[in-house]
Amino acid sequence: MASTQALRGRHIVLGLTGGIACYKAAELARELVRAGATVQVVMTEAAAQFITPVTMQALSGRPVFTSPWDARPPGNMAHIDLTRQAGGADAVLVAPASADFIAQLAQGRAGDLLSLLCLARPAARCPLLVAPAMNREMWAHPATQRNVAQIVADGAAVLGPDAGEQACGEVGDGRMLEAAALCEALVAHLQPKPLAGRTVLITAGPTFEAIDPVRGITNHSSGKMGFALARAAAEAGARVTLVAGPVHLPTPAGVRRIDVHSAEQMLAAVLPEAPRHQVFIATAAVADWRPAQVAAHKLKKGGSGHPPPLALVENPDILATVARLPAGQRPWCVGFAAESENLLHHAREKLRRKGVPLIVANLGPATFGRDDNAVVLVDADGEHALPQADKLTLARQLVHEIAARLPAAAP
Ligand code: CTP
Repeated sequence: MASTQALRGRHIVLGLTGGIACYKAAELARELVRAGATVQVVMTEAAAQFITPVTMQALSGRPVFTSPWDARPPGNMAHIDLTRQAGGADAVLVAPASADFIAQLAQGRAGDLLSLLCLARPAARCPLLVAPAMNREMWAHPATQRNVAQIVADGAAVLGPDAGEQACGEVGDGRMLEAAALCEALVAHLQPKPLAGRTVLITAGPTFEAIDPVRGITNHSSGKMGFALARAAAEAGARVTLVAGPVHLPTPAGVRRIDVHSAEQMLAAVLPEAPRHQVFIATAAVADWRPAQVAAHKLKKGGSGHPPPLALVENPDILATVARLPAGQRPWCVGFAAESENLLHHAREKLRRKGVPLIVANLGPATFGRDDNAVVLVDADGEHALPQADKLTLARQLVHEIAARLPAAAP
């Protein structure tokens, strides 16, 4: 899910080292600029064999630097100035990072502008993110793995690599992540971390209640809000488990996902997880009823003119069940209320009926399947509106609202 201008006001140093994945760095520069960042490209000599500085300059809209002897920066010290200019770089992202470059980082060597700059950056406020790209044997080599472990121990974040087909024709680990995934990872890295050390369990999507092997009862929930919340909670530093009904959405990075179909399966997945999590957010549009019996075979019309009788039974209320767990096993619960009218009245009534400290109310038909939403937070203290925004922006705001209301974590 794209968030508009998620890097607005950010200054990113994008480093390229030698590798065929440099072609993806062109797209990455565009993604970063599109997300609102100013991008300062720095390339090694080897990178310039794969893609020209002219291309990167055109895409980033700034002159590209390749040499520590480049006299253009005011102090004539490119390796210092490039992470301090434009109010200071918010991050250095090296993509692609070759095996040789990672080895240089691990040893603290400074043989060219990019490695110099990584060493000289103000590490406390300018994180280093590294996206490896190399042949699978190079990636698996103990020397590379040792070097990667070392740079992680030194504070770098390693993004990927991915597995798949490689430029050399081999298949395995070592492909650089795609530009969109790298941009998303950078955005996530730069988010504040109000849920650091917390665990969050989320239900999302519709449920599907089978009538027979080919039919069922479901609803229009797309799961987008729940998936955006899972992403936002993970970005905010939480360990997130997402129990998802049948939806066609990719799992947010770093999120553990459990797929279910019916309300009963969702409850069975949630119950053992709930006591292991500090926060439970129920965004799922759980079907209120299910057929009393599921036919073993497809129900046939048979030409009788009579529809089959469809007896329904009520599904368990997952949120209310979790909210009633004994203290010590009960996470802090957040419910959603999707209403078609009388929003605040129904939300307040749900707050009481479900026994939860917070209800997030929205007009269901106005939001189902859409990328944006507006909600009202209803709790014991009153009401707080979050105006119309894309679901990821809203999810990030909600995560902050939830973090602010959480009781202090047990020491
Ligand atoms: N919910 C749940 N299990 C159910 C029904 C609802 O966990 N069987 C959760 C939803 O995920 C949501 C909240 O309860 O967080 C409210 O859901 P909603 O469908 O709005 O309310 P209902 O309890 O179904 O009440 P009503 O049908 O009267 O609106």
